[in-house]
Order: sequence, then C-alpha cells, then structure tokens
Amino acid sequence: MKKIPYLIKNVDLAPAGRQRTAWAAREMPVVGSLRKNYSRTKPFQGLRISCCLHITSETANLVIALKEAGAEVALAASNPLSTQDEVAAHLVRDHSISVFGLKGENERTYYTGIRALIERQPHLLVDDGADLIATVHRYKSLAGQILGATEETTTGVIRLTNLAQKKLLLFPVVAVNNADTKHLFDNRYGTGQSTVDGLLRATNILLAGKVAVICGYGWCGRGIAMRLKGMGARVIVTEVNPLRALEAVMDGYAVMPVKAAATVADLFITATGNTTVLSWETIRLMKDGAILANAGHFNVEIDLATLSKKALQKTRVRPYLDEYLLPGKRRVFVLGEGRLVNLACAEGHPAAVMDMSFANQFLSLKFLKENHPLSARVYPVPPEIDQAVATLKLKSMGVQVDRLSHIQKEYLHSWHLGT
Ligand SMILES: NC(=O)c1ccc[n+]([C@@H]2O[C@H](COP(=O)([O-])OP(=O)(O)OC[C@H]3O[C@@H](n4cnc5c(N)ncnc54)[C@H](O)[C@@H]3O)[C@@H](O)[C@H]2O)c1
Repeated sequence: MKKIPYLIKNVDLAPAGRQRTAWAAREMPVVGSLRKNYSRTKPFQGLRISCCLHITSETANLVIALKEAGAEVALAASNPLSTQDEVAAHLVRDHSISVFGLKGENERTYYTGIRALIERQPHLLVDDGADLIATVHRYKSLAGQILGATEETTTGVIRLTNLAQKKLLLFPVVAVNNADTKHLFDNRYGTGQSTVDGLLRATNILLAGKVAVICGYGWCGRGIAMRLKGMGARVIVTEVNPLRALEAVMDGYAVMPVKAAATVADLFITATGNTTVLSWETIRLMKDGAILANAGHFNVEIDLATLSKKALQKTRVRPYLDEYLLPGKRRVFVLGEGRLVNLACAEGHPAAVMDMSFANQFLSLKFLKENHPLSARVYPVPPEIDQAVATLKLKSMGVQVDRLSHIQKEYLHSWHLGT
C-alpha cells in the first residue's frame, strides 16, 4: 500500500468496503460511464481535488471516477455520524486515496479532516453543507490556488449565496443541488425513501395508522410525506411558506402550526434546513412516547440542548435511539442524535439517485476547470449538463423518449399561429 495520510477506524475493513462499493456501482451507470470515458482522456490530470462528503459507497464511486480521470483526490467526512468505516478502509487500501472520517467521531477529528483537505492545497473543492468552503474563508490565505468549488446540498447553497451577497466569496461555486437532475430526485425520492429506512431500522415501529408530522414541505419534505403516506401514516405538514403550505393542502395533507400538531402526533420529522423548528416549547406539548427525527442537513432543527437540560434522564434504548425522561414522567425519543436520520440510522440515499447527483458533481468540476477563470459567484449547473445527465440516466434504464418533429420545433418557435 502506498504511504498516504489518513484518519479512519480500521484499514483491515477494506474487503467489506470493496464489496459494498461494487454493489453501489451496479446502480450507478451514469457515473460508471463517466469513469470509463474520462479514464482515457484524464481531464483532471495534475489537479488536486478535496472532497468533503458523506463517506458512503456512492461517494466512493465518485472519488474513484475522479481519480481515474487524472485527479489526486482526498476525502473527509461531511458529518460525524454518516461514515461507513469499511468504505473508508477500501478507499485507503485499494485506491490509495487519503480519507479522514470515522463513524461517531468528535468535532476535533471532524475538523482535523477538513484542515487536512485544505493543507494539501487543492485546486478544486467538493462540499456538502459548506463546512469545508467556510473554513477556507475563515483563513483566507488558504484559498491560494483554488479554481472553484461545487456544493451538494440546499443548506450549503444557502450559506454560500449569503457569502456571495456579502461580497465575501473568494472563488466560483457551482450549486450542484439546484440542478433538476439533483434536487428533484435526490432530495425528493432519495430523502423520502432513506428517511423511512432510517426510521424503521432505528425503531422498527409500525407506520400504518401513526400520525406523522413533517416540518417543511420542500423537496425533502415532499418526498418524506409521500412515502410515509404510502406506508399508511396519517401525515400533517407544518410550513412557513404559504405557497408550499397550499401545495401540501392540495396534495391531501393536513396543514397546521407546529404547536397544534405537537399535541396530536406520534412522530415528528424535520426537513427545513432551519434552526429550532422543534423548540422546547413545542416538545413540552408532545404526547408521551413521541418520536423525533431530523432529515435536514445540520443537527440544529430539534432543540436538543434545551431538551437535554430539561430532561431528568437520558437513556440509549437501541442503537441511535435515545429516550429522554421529562418532568411529569413523559418520555420523548430522539433518533440519530438529531443528525440526518437517513445517514445516521441507515445508509443514506440509494445509489440510483446518487448516480445523478454525482454525475452532476463530476461534470460541474470539469466545467469549472475548463472555464477557469470565472468570477467569484454562485453558478447554476449549466443546463447542458442537466440534460446530459437525464439523457444518460434514461439510456441506462432502457427508457426511450420521443423527439420533436421539424413541424413541432417550428410551431414552438412561432408567434403567429393561434386560433
Ligand atoms: N437527509 C438528506 O440526505 C438530505 C438530502 C438533501 C437535502 N437535505 C437537507 O434537507 C434540508 C431541506 O432541503 P430541501 O431541499 O427540502 O429544502 P427546501 O428549501 O426545498 O425546503 C425547505 C422548506 O422548509 C420550510 N421551512 C423553513 N423554516 C421552517 C419552519 N420553521 N417550519 C416549517 N417549515 C419551514 C421552507 O419554507 C421550505 O419550504 C436542507 O438542510 C438540505 O440541505 C438533506
């Protein structure tokens, strides 16, 4: 094995990680085709790419593809609870990729990883939640040779847009999250399915007949609500945006303020990207035995700090399931320490959706390299990339679609043909 820096649980876990990564690859034909095509032309030759992503088997397929396309790649965890230790071992041992991340790590090792990504003086960054990019901005001298970055998730795009609006952004960033082939599928179907998966693995409760509250009817919230409804839960939505609330009503859900929902529900899932959505004032209204989980990016949506202070006792009753005993002998249960429930308690999104998200990542990095220098703004994913990813995905699924005829193209470009 080549000598490289890394900080992982145990390199001997590599064989299990290899199998897991190969299993995910079967569902990732688009990333597979990019890997095959660009391993010949090597568009990233001579470039160091630092990735701060969930260390999962899907991410492994992306970083291997980047490496084969010529890049020197390093990877650090974007969440202390999402790392698959065997996948980290596989990347280190079998691909000589520097990896920093251990499942259940603390904040110190988390930032050791992020610093290691920066100290290798990368040319391109890939971020999920913007902790890596924000750290570079705290120590501006580190930005040096960075050509640009990509951002995977809604919360990261919000942070970086705020940075750009304050005119503080140091390099261009492509908002991969905002590609249609990303958020319409990953956030909706990916989070929808894997959140239910995390909930079931952690609790094994029957969903049929339960009253479930979804806080936030964005792309993730819509997916979670849809899947819970399909499993027989009665779903209530809480929102702050009147348009989204109206959409939830017309999709057939009950909509009400969170404090009203608190008194009647069995189960609460936050997916807002906002802070203190389940505040102590809300939690104290809940029924005995209420279950709380978060699917939003950071562990700020449930006010765990106040809950911990008010609780008389906290007991781990199953893996990633904590019971808080409250005054008056009521109990609430919190999943995955309030972190992304689908990654903390299950395996994150299915590979088939990450295939599209990561194809966007790969092609957006190529776009940044080929169009350097770009001014320091947040850019959308170019529509050609979105179209290419959708086309490749359909092809891999064996789905064919119609093409516009000449007459139809002309009609769509005319103004004088009407009644
Ligand atoms: N778990 C995952 O794997 C995963 C995947 C993708 C995105 N995310 C994260 O999930 C979060 C949501 O992402 P999204 O793409 O659905 O965002 P979105 O912007 O489409 O939706 C968020 C919704 O929450 C609503 N909201 C904000 N504050 C609220 C409050 N106090 N109460 C009720 N509703 C409120 C907003 O009005 C909006 O409709 C982000 O943090 C994102 O980064 C997680």
